[in-house]
Amino acid sequence: MILITGASSGLGAALAKRYADLGEQVMISGRNQARLADVAQASKNLHPMAADLCDEQGVTALFDNLTTMSGGAALDTVIHCAGSGYFGPITEQQTDEIHKLLQNNVTSCILLVRELVKRYQDTPLNLVVVMSTAAQQPKAGESTYCAAKWAVRGFIESVRLELKGKPMKIIAVYPGGMDTGFWPSSGKSLDTSSFMSADEAAEMLQGALKATAHGHIADITIARG
Ligand SMILES: NC(=O)c1ccc[n+]([C@@H]2O[C@H](COP(=O)([O-])OP(=O)(O)OC[C@H]3O[C@@H](n4cnc5c(N)ncnc54)[C@H](OP(=O)(O)O)[C@@H]3O)[C@@H](O)[C@H]2O)c1
Repeated sequence: MILITGASSGLGAALAKRYADLGEQVMISGRNQARLADVAQASKNLHPMAADLCDEQGVTALFDNLTTMSGGAALDTVIHCAGSGYFGPITEQQTDEIHKLLQNNVTSCILLVRELVKRYQDTPLNLVVVMSTAAQQPKAGESTYCAAKWAVRGFIESVRLELKGKPMKIIAVYPGGMDTGFWPSSGKSLDTSSFMSADEAAEMLQGALKATAHGHIADITIARG
């Protein structure tokens, strides 16, 4: 069984549909119940579970529900796609939007991973954390977004060290630009027609995530162009 966060749109939704088509049972999560229900229409293998990952009780309830709904099926993969964007020169960034950005990208990841490690560190679970090429290089006009993604990278690299020798693995993913609802919701208007579609990125990521009995691909950059 797979859990995909940020699955009410974009990359998460595209991945969820791909895995469901392969016959996997997929729990899909996001805050927007209507959008989640829309995504779930695509397959009987998709199971919506709304949760705000910035809320500790929301995260706990997500995993309690998952255990109840799974009917005993083991959770073997979590793909964390939830996140949001906010851009602009630093002098023009608004305090409330900065807080929201840090919450949706950094707090959500920390609360999710903390709960996962508590519950699953001794089980063979692959945790895939989707960040961005903005976690690999600085970008003018994206300072707080880069700060958030670099923070997530530092966090998961550190938790990886804490998991050394455990069966739970963390896989880091760094995608380049994708043509999704991310851009309109970030408030940045740009031409994304040459960016990867969510489905293209999902196809590449799904291929790269195939593990063997004694190995897995640990770090994945999905370059645009
Ligand atoms: N699009 C790009 O060019 C691009 C490039 C590199 C990396 N990324 C990263 O890739 C990931 C997926 O992006 P995308 O393009 O698929 O974006 P998207 O279409 O906007 O999807 C983002 C998802 O995150 C969920 N989400 C946001 N905040 C949340 C919260 N607090 N709790 C739970 N769910 C939350 C949203 O659902 P609700 O609104 O329903 O909560 C939505 O399902 C993000 O982390 C993004 O930063 C995107």
